This record gives sequence, structure tokens and C-alpha cells, in this order.
Amino acid sequence: MRHVILIAATTASFGLAHGAGGQGANVLLNCTSCHTLAPDIPKRELSQTPPAPYPNLNGQSARYLERQLHAYRTGLRQHPQMQATATALGDGAAAMARMYSDAPAPDLVFRENDDTHAAAQRLVYEGDWSRGLPSCNSCHARDPDDRARLSPRLHGHPASYLTRQLTAYAEGTRQSGTMGRMRAFASKLTEQEISEIAAYYAAWREDTGPLSEAPTSQPQKEDSDG
Ligand code: HEC
Ligand code: HEC
Repeated sequence: MRHVILIAATTASFGLAHGAGGQGANVLLNCTSCHTLAPDIPKRELSQTPPAPYPNLNGQSARYLERQLHAYRTGLRQHPQMQATATALGDGAAAMARMYSDAPAPDLVFRENDDTHAAAQRLVYEGDWSRGLPSCNSCHARDPDDRARLSPRLHGHPASYLTRQLTAYAEGTRQSGTMGRMRAFASKLTEQEISEIAAYYAAWREDTGPLSEAPTSQPQKEDSDG
């Protein structure tokens, strides 16, 4: 309920403050039409809903989210529609970041056999020191308890989104993040590795209950998460 009020309040104030984007601004600022807050979808319904093609912001670190909105505004991240949204949002970015950060993180389970995406899982949990690649999992926890951390949860994002981000880091069109670390890591990955890693993280899906086969166990190093 608190979220609903916040959305109404923030959207209303931006409507007044920004002509930017004209009639499109209302659509762009309706964040939840793409990034659902979906607090109480019954599991049966959830199992019939295809995963959204947008990144899930719920429970991510507020600091991370606010920085991304800033990055769209300043062009460090490129995506015409989100750049227009972030520009229209202006100083409202902090409030929106907090709203999504306060929303419960999705309850994710691994929806495939444990031994699928083996090569990707090696990179995620062990890295490849011969190429100077630390394990992705050392920074990207599934359920970060520290909401101030700057590395987001990757589990459950759409594969197409993750592929686009890793490619953008590798090509230098996504410049956000400190010291160009993600650019350095991504540029060491092959295209094949990028798509396998994206598929691995995307295979973590919202827990839709016993309708589909329950996963037996989680990846071994998973205990060291966040
Ligand atoms: C029409 C759909 C749509 C709407 C409306 C929308 N977004 Fe987005 N959002 C996207 C897409 C698509 C991306 C991924 C863009 C990219 O590839 O960089 C994204 C990315 C983001 C990201 C970066 C996520 C990450 O994991 O790094 C944040 C933060 C974000 N949106 C916040 C918002 C906020 C806040 C609003 C409302 C003010 C909003 N979005 C409205 C579609 C939307
Ligand atoms: C040293 C910590 C660290 C390691 C190790 C690391 N990352 Fe990151 N990663 C980050 C940070 C910090 C960000 C946010 C940077 C920004 O603001 O753009 C990030 C961002 C990302 C994003 C964009 C997420 C989004 O929602 O848009 C992807 C995808 C990603 N990392 C994948 C990986 C993969 C795959 C690996 C392993 C090969 C990896 N990272 C290793 C710290 C790390």
C-alpha cells in the first residue's frame, strides 16, 4: 500500500514539474507498467505468466538503482527510452530507487537441472584466473543483504537484458561503474560465454510452487552468497 501511494505521489509531482517528453512522459514515468512491484501474485498465476522482458528492480540496492538512473541521464548508459525516462524523472530518482529497493526481492529458484550451463557456472562460481576473471558470484549475490552494495543481483533477469548489458560493457557503450571493472571483465568473455552466462542467470525464476518440478539443490557455492 505504501508503494502505491508513493507511486501516485511521485508521478503526480513529475507530471507538474516536467514538460520533458510531452505527452509521452506519463507513460515513461509509469515505472510499474514495465518494472512490476508485484507483491502478491498468487503462485498459480505466476506460473502462467511469462517472465517480463525488463530487469526486475525489486530488492536491489537503492544506491545501485539511483546510480543507474543517473547514468542514463548523463549518457553513461545508453537506451533511448530509459534515458528519456530518467531525464523526466530528474531528482525523483532517489525516491524511486528507494521504493524498488524496499520492495521484497523475488523468491528465486533454479528452474533447470543443476548441471546445465556448466561452463557458465564455472565462470560464475570460480572465475578464470588465467584470464584475470574473478568469480561473478563474489560480487553478484542472489539475495544481497547489504542494500548499500553497488553490484546488483543478476539472478532472474531476462537473458536478452543480461546479454545486452555485457555486450555494452565489452564494447564500451555502457560506461557506468567504478574503475571500468565490468568493462574489463566483460571484454574478456567470448560471445558464447556471454550468452551462456545470461542463460544461466535467467534460469533462476520466481518460485511458482510445486506445479513444476522442484529443484533438488542449489549450486554448490551458493552458500557463500551475500
Ligand atoms: C516502457 C517500459 C519501461 C518503463 C515505463 C520504465 N522502464 Fe526502466 N527499464 C526498461 C528497460 C527496457 C530497461 C533496460 C534498458 C537497458 O538495456 O539499458 C530498463 C532499465 C531500468 C533500470 C536499470 C536496471 C538495472 O538493473 O541496471 C532502472 C534503475 C530503471 N529502468 C528504472 C525505471 C524507473 C524508476 C522508471 C519510472 C520512472 C522506469 N524504469 C520506467 C523499461 C522501462
Ligand atoms: C569486483 C566485483 C564484480 C565482479 C567480480 C563482477 N561484477 Fe558485474 N558488476 C559489478 C558492479 C559494481 C556492477 C555495476 C556497475 C555499473 O554501475 O554499471 C556490475 C554490473 C554487472 C551487470 C549489469 C547488471 C544490470 O542489472 O544491468 C552484469 C550483467 C554483470 N555485472 C555481470 C557480471 C559477470 C557475468 C561477472 C563475472 C564474469 C561479473 N559481473 C563480475 C561488480 C562486479
